[in-house]
Amino acid sequence: MDIQKIIEEREAWLGWKNIRPLRDALAKLPHIPDAEVQLGDWVKVSSPSISEEERARVEAAARMMKPWRKGPFDLFGVRIDSEWQSYKKYDLLRPYLDLEGKRVADVGCNNGYYMFRMLEFAPASVLGVDPSPLFRTQFDLLQRYIRSDRLRYEMLGIEHMSGFADMFDTVFCLGVLYHRSDPIVALKALKQSLKRGGELYLDTFMIEGDEPVCLVPASTYSKIGNVHFVPTVPALENWCKKAGFERFEVLEVVKTEPDEQRRTEWIDGQSLEDFLDPDDPNRTVEGYPAPRRVYIKTYRK
Ligand SMILES: C[S@@+](CC[C@H](N)C(=O)[O-])C[C@H]1O[C@@H](n2cnc3c(N)ncnc32)[C@H](O)[C@@H]1O
Repeated sequence: MDIQKIIEEREAWLGWKNIRPLRDALAKLPHIPDAEVQLGDWVKVSSPSISEEERARVEAAARMMKPWRKGPFDLFGVRIDSEWQSYKKYDLLRPYLDLEGKRVADVGCNNGYYMFRMLEFAPASVLGVDPSPLFRTQFDLLQRYIRSDRLRYEMLGIEHMSGFADMFDTVFCLGVLYHRSDPIVALKALKQSLKRGGELYLDTFMIEGDEPVCLVPASTYSKIGNVHFVPTVPALENWCKKAGFERFEVLEVVKTEPDEQRRTEWIDGQSLEDFLDPDDPNRTVEGYPAPRRVYIKTYRK
């Protein structure tokens, strides 16, 4: 697989009709030399010198880039209150992380929220991979002011990870596996990108049960398209073993609550409250068990 060629070809995606105006707005944004970054639950950038007119331009560009799924961010007082309170996931994983000096990949990184948060550990580098030119553009807006030379973002997918053979100490794959029609092939690609003994952090929707079986949604799951398999924890463990991982550790099991995923002015459209059965919040509108996630850590053999 010629990763460099794919990366170069995909740069053309930033010229798509719906993306071009966002890139133009981004290119015209002011240079703020004294921008200061604070990496808390809100990833915050501030400046003592930014003018009201400059702040308004940043806000207009950010609004053009809706929907903001992951965050939140505070850019010079523009509070981007994303659909997801992504710090809940990050704070859950944080006690398990040891990233200092490591080469890290975040597969399905969306706009890079977790990549920015991980900078607190001083990793050697973090590669974010996500095929969305919109989320890449959100990342570029944030990175324009956060300016970390440890971060890199490529519009690639999990299917390209085998092209980064033996490269990473730590790989994150959060909220992506249920979108893959062949989860074992996807896990194998992640494994190939890890050094021997390297660690994978992964979360996925799960169903309760002791048998190694999966829910296969007929069409949508919680109104999300492209959800192919929702495994029990033993099924997930078997996938990982088949893909070449060992030492399977369950870190947490968490039910998604409406305070984590909700409609805000930074998305247009629906959110969790619209995806659950109004008469039974333990069921999705399709009648499946309501979203519950398992967080695991496992290691390349
Ligand atoms: C449910 S979101 C999860 C985002 C983030 N990792 C999190 O856990 O909050 C799924 C992400 O996967 C991305 N995605 C879509 N196709 C992908 C692929 N083939 N490989 C990797 N990521 C993909 C989407 O653009 C989206 O950002």
